[in-house]
Amino acid sequence: GRYFGTAIASGKLGDSQYTTIANREFNMVTAENEMKIDATEPNRGQFDFTNADRIYNWAVQNGKRVRGHTLAWHQQQPGWMQSLSGSSLRQAMIDHINGVMSHYKGKIYAWDVVNEAYDDSSGGRRDSNLQRTGNDWIEVAFRTARNADPDAKLCYNDYNTDNWSWAKTQGVYNMVKDFKQRGVPIDCVGFQSHFNSGSPYPGNYRTTLQNFAALGVDVQITELDIQGASAQTYANVVNDCLAVPRCNGITTWGVRDSDSWRSGDTPLLFDGNGNKKAAYTSVLNALNAAVPSDSPSPTPPVSPSATPSDSPSPSPSDSPSPTPPVSPSQSPTAEPGGCSATMRTVNSWPGGFQSEVTVRAGGSAIRGWTVSWNWSGSPTITQLWNGVRSGSGSAVTVRNESYNGTVAAGGTTTFGFTGSGGAETPSLTCAAS
Ligand code: XIL
Repeated sequence: GRYFGTAIASGKLGDSQYTTIANREFNMVTAENEMKIDATEPNRGQFDFTNADRIYNWAVQNGKRVRGHTLAWHQQQPGWMQSLSGSSLRQAMIDHINGVMSHYKGKIYAWDVVNEAYDDSSGGRRDSNLQRTGNDWIEVAFRTARNADPDAKLCYNDYNTDNWSWAKTQGVYNMVKDFKQRGVPIDCVGFQSHFNSGSPYPGNYRTTLQNFAALGVDVQITELDIQGASAQTYANVVNDCLAVPRCNGITTWGVRDSDSWRSGDTPLLFDGNGNKKAAYTSVLNALNAAVPSDSPSPTPPVSPSATPSDSPSPSPSDSPSPTPPVSPSQSPTAEPGGCSATMRTVNSWPGGFQSEVTVRAGGSAIRGWTVSWNWSGSPTITQLWNGVRSGSGSAVTVRNESYNGTVAAGGTTTFGFTGSGGAETPSLTCAAS
């Protein structure tokens, strides 16, 4: 029920070994550099999404979702931004967030709105041109981001925030706590988790994830790599995420060791020849050993009442991302004991599309579901996830996977697919068991 993602570099999309592994093993994608400020706004007011869109399109056409990285950061700023300060830099930051988020409105699972704003040792803010515009720059960034795309989860992302006893971790924790108390819109905290001898995997990592989640935010492991790729440490990280219901998923920072920004550390799950390493097997074993959750993330069937009362801001984090169904093809009202289903088109492009089906339990919990429909034209499903497909020709039947058959009364779960041909929103039949 959690996602497992990777960073993707646009320059490698022509490498078939790279794309084969990435497509086979991961279902969430982060652009390693292509959505950063210097890449997307090389000249002030002139946005360039060429390489970012290459990654976005590759991901979506292969049935994956996308994390956005990153909108406000002291690094990888274009030259024009580096030389700005004060109110003109503040305005440039706001314009940048609006420009990038409007391009991807409704399409991004979560944005790293602000990256690496805390000092490595003091527990306070890091000095930067952005910080010098005023201490409120982070909350301005988050408020701007919420208005620009209300459907994306909004994350604060940083490194060396893994060890609960480190001052930097406490600094970020106190900021998130303050934001939640004051209603500054924040939905998630990203833990980069670049582990090495100077910043090793800490034994209290799970405590850190739990404590942040208890503030009413999701937690995500966003850039995982481990110097030497200890199989045990990789398994520990996976088990720590699985132990925290609000840990949505894990992204490794690259595919093969040779793709890593720290390739000398051989920190990833595949070696330079694309072979699975021992760490790969231990990650897979940890995932397979997990007890399936009734509320698989990323589409947790949590009722609105489960939203923490300490989260005054409207948060999309408890609803399927992105957004409620547009023109549902069937009423979402279900009979007690039964279920209903609606299909929406998430995205489409010449010759293909991605759709999502929301299955909703009626007045009592269900333990399994089967959704059926008939295509009126001739789309073909190319890849389907969170469900098992049968049927042939224009008649399609999808039943639950082992981990998402149980849905609480009034709760929802989703499955998705990519198809070739034109998108349709047929009426659906849902049978519960
Ligand atoms: C790194 C990329 O992997 C490199 O290709 C690039 O040269 C520098 O940035 N924290 C982050 C990431 O948030 O964006 C960084 O990615 C790694 C550290």
